[in-house]
Amino acid sequence: MFKMKDYAYHIFSPYRVCPLGAHVDHQHGLVTGFAINKGVDLWFNIREDSIVKLSSRTFEGDVEFDINRPSQVKEKHWGDYARGAKYALRKRFELTHGIEGVIQGSLPVGGLSSSAAVLIAYVMAFAKANGIKLQPFEIVQIASEAEREYIGLNNGLLDQACIALSKKDQLLFLDCDTNEYRVIPFGGQNHLPLRETGEGLFEIAIFFSGLTRSLVNSDYNLRVYECKTAAWNMLAYLDAPLKPFDKTFLRDIPKETFEKTRDMMPARFARRAEHYYSEYRRVRQGVTAWETGNLPLFGKLSFDSCESSMNNYECGSPELIAIYKAMRGLEGVYGGRFSGAGFKGAVIALVDPRYKESVEKAVTERYLAEFPEYETTFKTFWVKPDDGARFINDLKIYSGRIQCKP
Ligand code: GLA
Repeated sequence: MFKMKDYAYHIFSPYRVCPLGAHVDHQHGLVTGFAINKGVDLWFNIREDSIVKLSSRTFEGDVEFDINRPSQVKEKHWGDYARGAKYALRKRFELTHGIEGVIQGSLPVGGLSSSAAVLIAYVMAFAKANGIKLQPFEIVQIASEAEREYIGLNNGLLDQACIALSKKDQLLFLDCDTNEYRVIPFGGQNHLPLRETGEGLFEIAIFFSGLTRSLVNSDYNLRVYECKTAAWNMLAYLDAPLKPFDKTFLRDIPKETFEKTRDMMPARFARRAEHYYSEYRRVRQGVTAWETGNLPLFGKLSFDSCESSMNNYECGSPELIAIYKAMRGLEGVYGGRFSGAGFKGAVIALVDPRYKESVEKAVTERYLAEFPEYETTFKTFWVKPDDGARFINDLKIYSGRIQCKP
């Protein structure tokens, strides 16, 4: 039976939402995001030996492996994320101590980057067990490498950065080319006063469609290649030197080049590039809107970002599109978009807290009128921007090393 007090360490690794700057991190674009107050909990003890033993309160089966040996092939099991974290850490450090732990997720929802959240929790736990001190951005890079090289998703740094670097009630702004980032209070340095009611200016609604999918099996990787193909097309038309495909990013090609060549390339590739360049502009405007306390403009840009995801990037299932249409235009909804890649199940909205009830009711009614088959699985969750992944100091029962069994 699971008892928290049996564990010396507790890591909380939040999920993330991205209001602006979607599908551009892998092209070294500009992104924004929040960590939220729901996520993954990992309770663990450090072992004397190098064995990792894990169980999950969310998924079936136990996981056991040696942290000191190279990772075996993937098993298509939740334990792959722990093996992925080991894989990426082992490239840099010697790992001699395993852990014994229990993991649990707090929302049954796709699209909030639970995979990056668990990877970050494992990276932090394995580092702690082996006395490795990691800088926050190192955690981002190691977890990202685990996801790209071990799990096999060609994604960028958005998820890991939001999860590891966020600060409560602030917006994370990351340049995925230079890796420079800022966490920005609403209204810039001069915090705007909260409402007299004491409530925040917005809460985040997560509308879960009821649909679950894995990104590795979606068109996610295909879209990344389409962006790179657009970049190659542009360079080829200009007779400019090409770089290897994996080192080709839209960020390295000026917008003027796109303007000159867009009509020459197949329309599908031009649409992917249009998404990239327009999202770059929206993020810049959005960050200024946030810094100057203009939530309506920030929200409108998030809506526009979703439109571009649908029309230019061509992602989003009929279910997600129905939720987006149901919420757009409702009183009290500042803005919102598909959460994450839009191949999975959730749509987020920034909502004036005074309208929470009416917004939830209207979206539920409209969505279920179109998709009654999700009557029992469609759900709305309300969350807030929160701090990034961290150790929780509620469990210092004893010093944390357990004896390995003979
Ligand atoms: C997923 C990926 C991220 C990012 C988003 C879309 O969450 O893991 O790297 O590309 O989709 O913005």
